[in-house]
Amino acid sequence: MSTQRYGYGTMLLHWVHAILVLGLIAWGLYMSELPKGPERSFAIGVHKSFGIVALAVVILRLLWRRSHPAPADLRLSEVEHKLATAGHHLLYMLLVLTPLAGYLSASFTQYPMRFFGIVLPKPGWPDERFNAFFNGAHVFLAWSLTAMITVHLAAVVLHAIRKKPVMGRMLPGRTPID
Ligand code: HEM
Ligand code: HEM
Repeated sequence: MSTQRYGYGTMLLHWVHAILVLGLIAWGLYMSELPKGPERSFAIGVHKSFGIVALAVVILRLLWRRSHPAPADLRLSEVEHKLATAGHHLLYMLLVLTPLAGYLSASFTQYPMRFFGIVLPKPGWPDERFNAFFNGAHVFLAWSLTAMITVHLAAVVLHAIRKKPVMGRMLPGRTPID
C-alpha cells in the first residue's frame, strides 16, 4: 500500500472546519450586501459567533496535528509532495489570520464582542482607524482564503484526473486506497 488515510479525528475536524469556513464565506457575502439596520446587525452577530468557533477549531486542529501528522503519500513525486505541504501550510496560515483579523476589527468598535449572547473580552476600544485597518485586512485575507480553497479543490480534482485520487485519504472506509 503506497498511501494511507488520515485518522478519524483529523477527518472529523477537517469536514467540520470545511463546512464552517465555507458557510462563513457565503454568510459574509450575504451580510455585506444588507442595508444598515437590525437585520444586518443580527447577521454580523451570527457571523462573529461562528467566526470565533472557526478560530477555536483551527487552533484545535493545529494542536491535534502535532500528535497526528499527515500520513505520507508515496505515490507523489518529491515536487508534488513539497507543493502539497506548502499549500496546506498557506491554508493553515490564512485559516488563523482571517478570523484573527475579524476579531481585531470587531474589537475596535463601540459594540461588545458577543459570542452567542455571551460577552467576551476584547483587546480594543472604539477607534475608526484601527477598525478600518483590521476590517480591510479581514476582507483581503478572506478573499485570499477563498482563492486558496479554490486551489485546494482544483488539486483534489487534478489528482483524481491523473489517477492518483487523494479524496479517499480524507474519507472513512475499510478498503485500501491504493
Ligand atoms: C469541500 C471540499 C473539500 C474537499 C473535497 C477537500 C479534500 C481534502 C483532501 C482529500 C485532503 C487530503 C489531502 C492529502 O492527500 O494530503 C484535504 C486536506 C486539507 N484540507 Fe480539504 N477539502 C475540502 C475543503 C476544505 C476547506 C474548506 C478547508 C479549509 C477550512 C480545507 C482545509 C484542508 C487542510 C488544511 C488540509 C491539510 C490537512 C493536513 O495535512 O493537516 N479543506 N482536503
Ligand atoms: C474563518 C473565519 C472567517 C471567514 C472565512 C470570514 C469571512 C468573511 C467574509 C467573506 C466577509 C465579507 C467580506 C466582504 O465584505 O467582501 C466578512 C466580513 C466581516 N467579518 Fe468575517 N470571517 C471570518 C471570521 C470572522 C470573525 C472571527 C469575526 C469577528 C469576531 C468576523 C467579523 C467580520 C466583520 C465585522 C465583517 C464586516 C461586516 C461589514 O461591516 O460588512 N469575521 N468575513
